[in-house]
Amino acid sequence: MIGRLNHIGIATPDVEKAAQVWAALYGATKTHKAFDMPEQGVRVKFVDLPNSQIELIEPLGEASPLASFLEKNPAGGQHHVCFEVDDIIIARDDMRAKGARVLGTGEPRIGAHGTPVIFVHPKDSGGVLVELMQTHKEAH
Ligand code: CO
Repeated sequence: MIGRLNHIGIATPDVEKAAQVWAALYGATKTHKAFDMPEQGVRVKFVDLPNSQIELIEPLGEASPLASFLEKNPAGGQHHVCFEVDDIIIARDDMRAKGARVLGTGEPRIGAHGTPVIFVHPKDSGGVLVELMQTHKEAH
């Protein structure tokens, strides 16, 4: 059901500075160009490591959902983990059938990789916000 770890989301006040740290300390193999997702209220910058990807996210705009996270963690911190799924609707319905809460209306939205995603409430996973990401634009 749940596939590979796709990326780890890390909130930061500054994606460019954070990317420099990931390059300097952990030998990032590639840092991608940052881009804005105004509907989600975030600026995103992906950093590739040999066996994983870090999604650096910075608040964008006044109503950013990251604002309260950074109020509690001003230097930033781990925000979510993202696992791959084949079909986001099946994954969502499975989460609900297991009693987990899907954030928002539960309608998948387009995530930073351009494919549908949902988020599972952190209270259902020991305090960890979990993103589920369909790996393809269309379900299999
Ligand atoms: Co993510």
